[in-house]
Amino acid sequence: MPSESLPESSSDLEVVSDDPLCASAPLSHLEDWITPTKSFFVRNHFSAPQLDVSTWTLRVWGEVENPLMLRYEDLSRLPRKEVIALLECAGNSRSTMQPPVEGVSWDHGAVGTARWTGVPVRTILEQVSPKTSATDVLFEGADFGKERTAPGMLAPTEGSYSMSIPLDKVLHEDTLLVLEMNGEALTQHHGFPVRLLVPGWYGMASVKWLTDIRVLDRPFRGFHENDYYVFVPEGETGNSLGERITSIRVKSLITWPRRGGVVPIGAHKIRGMAWSGAGPITQVEVSVDNARTWHLADLEESKAPYAWQSWQFQWDVARPGHYLIRSRATDHQGDTQLSQAPWNFRGYAANSIHAVPVTVLPAD
Ligand code: MTE
Repeated sequence: MPSESLPESSSDLEVVSDDPLCASAPLSHLEDWITPTKSFFVRNHFSAPQLDVSTWTLRVWGEVENPLMLRYEDLSRLPRKEVIALLECAGNSRSTMQPPVEGVSWDHGAVGTARWTGVPVRTILEQVSPKTSATDVLFEGADFGKERTAPGMLAPTEGSYSMSIPLDKVLHEDTLLVLEMNGEALTQHHGFPVRLLVPGWYGMASVKWLTDIRVLDRPFRGFHENDYYVFVPEGETGNSLGERITSIRVKSLITWPRRGGVVPIGAHKIRGMAWSGAGPITQVEVSVDNARTWHLADLEESKAPYAWQSWQFQWDVARPGHYLIRSRATDHQGDTQLSQAPWNFRGYAANSIHAVPVTVLPAD
């Protein structure tokens, strides 16, 4: 199969895997509240399909009274809503997990915040009238194949990328069938022509290249939902069901200085971003002395419930030497980052305290 690439002239991303395409943003590109599309990470499981809006259809069926087939123009005529939401891949920061884990070796750049514009799924479900038996909704993408980057799979199956989501989450007014990202039609790699947005959940739920919405009377329990995006704890040897990955865990990243950075003694502004799928961040603390003392950073107010918040900390450093800078966020539920996120086989939800080694030189 040919390897895939990003449009070179327009992308700031670093390719982590070229087939299927996985591409990550450098941390220095994650300082804006809205991440430009060219700096927004890509996580594809299979080759990205090229869909034509003139023939594209969305089938809405299953446990419903009035099944429906929508064309792009039908969908684009319906009232739209804008939701500003962060998307983070469940495998983001996986390379930091100890002991080592299986999977695409993401550093920290599989995260971004975008303006998503689309039609609430709820609007469409109201048209098809789900039966009383409905409990979950399956979203199916046009891409398909066999997982090749998952040697840890017990039984890889061939099929399309699909996920079912509980009906109450689907009916939330902010769960969207997205047509536009940052004010423009979706790009091919971000799911053109229509993708799902499930705000607050890790990115795996936001199915791209949608072709089918199937209302079900139970969770689908397909391969990606049941075998792949699940927490497999240490010591698990059998095939028992792991806990499914859903809500984004509290996290902060230091965007400046960079790992291995060299700065002179003096005053510096340490900068970063913080977020949680549970809602606003209430504090970010910074340590510059091996986690002995922690200091409150200046934290931007939450501007939108699913977006990230920037923070900064004034660091007055008088002694040259080697420093490890750490940041630790707490969300409004009181959840805080730990020094080591709980280990799981594929390194999901890796939200350990971010630590950045920096050298401080004497003034010249
Ligand atoms: N949808 C389809 N159809 N195929 C995929 O491979 N990847 C999922 C999700 N939706 C995927 C998909 C994963 S794991 C993530 S993290 C997000 O899309 C990534 O969205 P992005 O590539 O637009 O950043």
